[in-house]
Amino acid sequence: MSVNKQAFLHELLDQMSLGEKAGQLNLLTGAMDATGMKNSADLETKIRLGLCGAVLNVFTPAATRALQELALTSPLGIPLIFGYDVIHGHRTIFPIPLGLSCSWNPELLERCARVAATEAAADGLHWVFSPMVDVSQDPRWGRVAEGSGEDPWLGSQIASAMVRGYQGKNLADPTAVLACVKHFALYGAPQGGRDYNTVDMSRRAMEETYFPPYRAAIQAGARTVMTSFNEIDGIPASGNRWLLTELLREQWGFKGWIVTDYTSVTEMIQHGTAAHANDAAKQALNAGVDMDMVSEAFVNELPALIKSGEIPEALLDTAVMRILETKWDLGLFQDAFARCDETRAKTLHRCTAHRQLARQAARESIVLLKNIPQLLPLAKTGTIAVIGPLAHSRRDMLGCWIAAGDEAETCSPLDGIRESLAGKAQVTFAQGCEIHLAHPPWLAEAIHTASEADTVVLVLGECWQMNGEAASRTDIRLPKCQRKLAEAILKTGKPCVLVTLSGRPLALSWEDANFSAILQAWALGTEGGGALADVLFGDAAPVGKLTMGFPHHVGQLPMTYREKPTGRPFDADVQYSSKYLDARNEALYPFGHGLTYGEFHYESPIVDSPEMNPGGSLRVSTKITNLSQHPASDTIQLYLRDPVASVSRPVKELRGFQRITLAGGESRVLSFQISDADLSFPGGDFKPVVESGEFEAMTGPDSVHLKSVRFSRL
Ligand code: NOJ
Repeated sequence: MSVNKQAFLHELLDQMSLGEKAGQLNLLTGAMDATGMKNSADLETKIRLGLCGAVLNVFTPAATRALQELALTSPLGIPLIFGYDVIHGHRTIFPIPLGLSCSWNPELLERCARVAATEAAADGLHWVFSPMVDVSQDPRWGRVAEGSGEDPWLGSQIASAMVRGYQGKNLADPTAVLACVKHFALYGAPQGGRDYNTVDMSRRAMEETYFPPYRAAIQAGARTVMTSFNEIDGIPASGNRWLLTELLREQWGFKGWIVTDYTSVTEMIQHGTAAHANDAAKQALNAGVDMDMVSEAFVNELPALIKSGEIPEALLDTAVMRILETKWDLGLFQDAFARCDETRAKTLHRCTAHRQLARQAARESIVLLKNIPQLLPLAKTGTIAVIGPLAHSRRDMLGCWIAAGDEAETCSPLDGIRESLAGKAQVTFAQGCEIHLAHPPWLAEAIHTASEADTVVLVLGECWQMNGEAASRTDIRLPKCQRKLAEAILKTGKPCVLVTLSGRPLALSWEDANFSAILQAWALGTEGGGALADVLFGDAAPVGKLTMGFPHHVGQLPMTYREKPTGRPFDADVQYSSKYLDARNEALYPFGHGLTYGEFHYESPIVDSPEMNPGGSLRVSTKITNLSQHPASDTIQLYLRDPVASVSRPVKELRGFQRITLAGGESRVLSFQISDADLSFPGGDFKPVVESGEFEAMTGPDSVHLKSVRFSRL
């Protein structure tokens, strides 16, 4: 930090009244979007009085400029920060994060984040409430759509990539925005998968499964962290000093600032850990919170708490300085309007390059769940009937966080298929039913349309309101009327591809038993329809791999491939072994699963040495052969197991992956380097430890079809 910056900011701090200091910690919402239960009253007056430090839900160069001008007329003229939920794109919408994670391509996610940052910054924004890095093993929870699935190791790589993409190299660059890691912490594990519900978790699960992606994002330099709505060991995150100060700041070395999630400061009253707003504000500041989103407990209560000596002013000053320093680093004191440039907005928003990236990202997010007997890719001939309530819905293609996306500028499955087949094949369409509602005449029309066609593409699943925040479900099968439509279309006997759009893994046992081809297409964003057509008709092969297993049945949840061995591991023939009487243990489509249009042979892995020295490394190699006549790609995965350790270890954990493209008939040897970092785990005292002994390395195309080799760590 330069001397000038320090001197400037301290001088500013000296001039601030208690009200103005608390004002810097006050984040209020504008009305261009509604993302929580409470709206902020008198926004403009509070800005003019210096009682607001940042604003969410206001964007566009004109709207942010107008409020920024007001802020500059406040007594001290401190500029505002503008934040927004840019979760999977801003104007150009990318696939929902769960979909994007299925690309297993962190470099691609970094590019998507960079584009989102560029578009957001061109709309007057400085701050995005992303990445959402909550690990989750429970698809009943609607917010799995916003995260990267069940695996902490892959989730960590994606988290760091997104932070790099958003923040760029220099925050003062007018294309950079602050990243905000959320929701700290453990928000992905609410009991019963019900949003906002209690989280009750062992320290071991926190350390092994839930903390790694937050820590990775912080190591990548994320400047802000958002608290979660849930309690941790009985103390709500926004009032949890152990979490925010001892762990995040003192142990992990976080240097940025902490914002609460929406009204979670005053929600401590409902949690039953604060008597009133005054108590809640005191607990939150003491815990380490710097900025209060929307509850206004800080701005209303902190001045009196300081005057009465209940809180030392130095604590408030520390939080204020964190915000002011960021404003300096963003270049706001030099030019508060650098991100309010209409011309840049016009040139960048949804420009061709951004749309091209969105189409690539959408293609790579699609997962081919089933293709037996091989029905896909489809030929571009004859008549293709596109059927289903999601077949021509542009809004649903955009998913649960639309940001400034525009459905009029979005490509539906039908749009994409029509464009791809123009002049080559005939395309017909029937909706068949609504998402939840049957219409007998529509069904009859759909059956007729299917009967007249050569092939059917049936597009079913969840509409955008069925996942995301406050959208938990107990039944994650397709809605009844959609199942009826599927049954009727299958009865026509026409070859039929099922395309599922959803924000979560669905329970697709019936569909798996009845369809020969199923493509999981999430909500693919602005260019989703074109990308889907690319994959359906073979202009691109599917490359996506699931980052969250699909269960047979909702009763299996929560569920993960990283399960512990237990003392009575599954054995179909043993009564007293860990299993259900009425369902399978494993996923229908496991973590890492995803087919392509080629066929591969995977040989058993070998190690370059049977032993690995402490601090050393070892190479695991495996030979892959493309058995098809044409080029094909696959993502080969490496899993490790520590079969005997001082604490029980998961039966397998992802520790490497590589996507390869092989020419028809080509073979290649792939190698993975293993070091102590890959074998390390939180020991009895939760500090990282590597124990000597035997390990198992497994390689293959998903988390189930694996071949293994053993080695010893000396
Ligand atoms: C509540 C959500 O939990 C959070 O993810 C979001 O960033 C805020 N609202 C702001 O809209």
